[in-house]
Amino acid sequence: MSESLAILNCSQVVTLAGPGRPRVGPEMRDIGIVAPGAMLVRDGLIGNVGTTAEIEERIDADTTVVDAGGRVLLPGFVDAHTHPIFAGTRVDEFEERSKGASYQEIAARGGGIQSTVNRTRAASVDGLVETCRRYTEWFLRGGTTTIEAKSGYGLSLEDELKILRAIKRLDDETALRYVPTFLGAHSVPPEYRARRGEYISLIIDEMLPQIARQKLAEYCDVFCEQRVFTTDESWKILSAARCHGLGLRMHADQLSLSGGAKLAAELGTITADHLEHTDADGIDALKKARVQPVLLPGSVYALGSSRYPAAREMIDAGLAVVLATDFNPGSSPTPSMAMILSLAATHMKMTPAEGITAVTINAAYSLNRGDQLGSLEPGKVADFVIHDCDDYRELAYFFGIEHAWRVYCGGTNATDLHG
Ligand code: NIG
Ligand code: FE
Repeated sequence: MSESLAILNCSQVVTLAGPGRPRVGPEMRDIGIVAPGAMLVRDGLIGNVGTTAEIEERIDADTTVVDAGGRVLLPGFVDAHTHPIFAGTRVDEFEERSKGASYQEIAARGGGIQSTVNRTRAASVDGLVETCRRYTEWFLRGGTTTIEAKSGYGLSLEDELKILRAIKRLDDETALRYVPTFLGAHSVPPEYRARRGEYISLIIDEMLPQIARQKLAEYCDVFCEQRVFTTDESWKILSAARCHGLGLRMHADQLSLSGGAKLAAELGTITADHLEHTDADGIDALKKARVQPVLLPGSVYALGSSRYPAAREMIDAGLAVVLATDFNPGSSPTPSMAMILSLAATHMKMTPAEGITAVTINAAYSLNRGDQLGSLEPGKVADFVIHDCDDYRELAYFFGIEHAWRVYCGGTNATDLHG
């Protein structure tokens, strides 16, 4: 017998129903609101969306009924850029930055990413899984039901495999869905600084083949930046990853205009992420190559910068913009999509509706899951959230709080699963 669940009396059901592809230009403002509304779920999939009266007609004696009490119903957030597997924190460096030190200065003297690498190398896979369960709860409590999760704090074959195995375990053992990305090219570790070519060979000849063989990642990412990986090095690594069947993502133009967006366009990566320094030519190149920008205002905010990416220009150029947290211990220690929606509206002049599109359906497409996730349409996976407000715009407007009231993954209440 089929199991059904009805969510009744929503002030708004924000469906994101629309064409079966990422949304561009004015489509990003059309978020398919049914108000007031209700939804029926069958066997973990979305059944129907309609008025409460219409959904009530489809209810039988076995249907579990949830009264949303005039709250807002949305798809679960899809966070398409995170670095969630790390040991320790960087609170010491955070305090130094509060006194004026810069992120780059701290990195140059062996802190930054390297300090997290040292601690992550010393952790076991079990230890990492336990640490990261806490972050999993944070994501779920904020209404995020899927995250893309990057490795990148191991930087050796064994430690990168360990991180990717921790991601697999968290995906299997928790309600949050994880999409794994290999980011061995996050930094050149100190033991290879004088022979960086050998580290790139290690990535290409050893890490990528093993990761592909063990099916531990769907995507490969590179931190393409001055003094990190050059465009030539990034090209080599991403081209090799493509030969192993991995999808391509890229950290591009985050701290300087370093040719990242143009390289992403040349390679036809699925996403180009950050883009704080990308110019009009870069935007044009991304548009022609249909690369999705993944914009990360949390890292701009947390680094104390005011250089936000040119979201308006990107939307107006017709790019299918995505917003994500960039959750990591250094530049963006937040798992909160509500915070990202607030920053996007206040600093990037994205409307609340454009923000919602960017954290749901467009994000799902950027992870090759647009046919299953990111909207409340019949047949899709029932990952949805009831938010404690009566207008979806409050998600971006009231900031510094989490709005999620009940979080469902595959039709199951994940709010209860994690206490
Ligand atoms: O996306 N840019 C590179 N990686 C992260 C920062 C990682 C860290 O500081 O630990 C980012 O901002
Ligand atoms: Fe990042």
